[in-house]
Amino acid sequence: MRALILLLVGLFTGILLTATALNLMALGQGGPRPHVALMGMLQYHLGEARGLIEPGCEAGQGERHFLLMRSLSDDLERVYVERGYDEALFSRHAKQFRARLDDTLALPEDTSCRIRADAMSRVQDGCQSCHRDFGRG
Ligand code: HEC
Repeated sequence: MRALILLLVGLFTGILLTATALNLMALGQGGPRPHVALMGMLQYHLGEARGLIEPGCEAGQGERHFLLMRSLSDDLERVYVERGYDEALFSRHAKQFRARLDDTLALPEDTSCRIRADAMSRVQDGCQSCHRDFGRG
């Protein structure tokens, strides 16, 4: 009887420890992933800007979204170069991307929606040209 109780206690403790270890491992994997978060935010704000500009700029010109993308883009090198991306090439793309955002933000108030759409598509090409060189097709 005593042996049986000891066996059950042992089994129970073993199960608890395994569950705790698995939980801790899962927590470790769920740590902050700023590179994924940064791209996710860029994608979100580009999508929001497109949602305003593509239907004709009537609901807005997306300035806030371009400003936020411009701010986020200051962190591109900081977040990516330490992940092993080639610094010279990466920062060339990052600079080009920031310059295109600056061009968009510098458009005068009365710029036509068609010209805004062109500027936005250059920003979008900036996403794609970096992705092409860094393996996202
Ligand atoms: C200067 C380079 C660069 C620019 C500019 C850039 N990206 Fe990325 N992006 C990357 C790299 C590198 C990855 C691969 C992520 C990884 O594997 O860590 C990536 C991944 C992504 C992902 C997938 C995220 C993930 O890892 O799950 C999305 C979505 C994305 N980018 C959207 C955008 C959008 C939208 C823009 C423009 C508004 C943009 N990116 C501009 C370099 C860039």
